[in-house]
Amino acid sequence: MVVSNSPTSQSTPASLPPSVFTLPQTAQLEALFTIIRDKETSRGDFLFYSDRIIRLLVEEGLNHLPVIPKTVTTPTGATYEGVGFEGKICGVSILRAGEAMEAGLREVCRSVRIGKILIQRDEETAQAKLFYAKLPQDIAQRYVLLLDPMLATGGSAIKAVEVLKEHGVPEDRIIFINLIASPEGLKNFCGKYPLTRVITGWIDQCLNEKAYIIPGLGDFGERRYCV
Ligand code: URA
Repeated sequence: MVVSNSPTSQSTPASLPPSVFTLPQTAQLEALFTIIRDKETSRGDFLFYSDRIIRLLVEEGLNHLPVIPKTVTTPTGATYEGVGFEGKICGVSILRAGEAMEAGLREVCRSVRIGKILIQRDEETAQAKLFYAKLPQDIAQRYVLLLDPMLATGGSAIKAVEVLKEHGVPEDRIIFINLIASPEGLKNFCGKYPLTRVITGWIDQCLNEKAYIIPGLGDFGERRYCV
């Protein structure tokens, strides 16, 4: 029997797909986002505050994993009827920006396996193209936390889920975690994979003509990795 979990995240308004969940839109979260959106924020602060949001997102992602009943004996000799996670998990980061979320996952899941997928735009076809994938060999038996900080057009994430499905991971065992999502990206992604949950920190207004999220925070990878 699977005990239903009770995520703290908010399901999104009726205009958005039911598989989309945002972090609770608290003043604290908005303050964290305000810092990382600010173009004057130093790289050190960007790292620190984006890591805080990533930690919240990973914890929230774990809230969406099913649990089963588990009984333990406490040091008092009493029996405690609790729960344990139903299955094994792994992370898969979409390179390069997704790598920034790996440490946040490792902080809360000790010795978690992490795979990597490199997807880039094919200049000839303008389609997302897979360049490299290194995934845990038993990934088909795991729940997958897919990591990419910015859901812009959704092209890379859609390709990444296609790769995971080719490796035997069912769509509903994938939880896609990102910091900021565009409405366009959510529509594309959820239209293609309605069973994959999307956990996002914030849903922004739109994409600009260069496919940057507006207001967004600019290029996440640049801000994270370049001085
Ligand atoms: N990737 C980024 O880093 N930023 C965006 O706004 C969109 C995609």
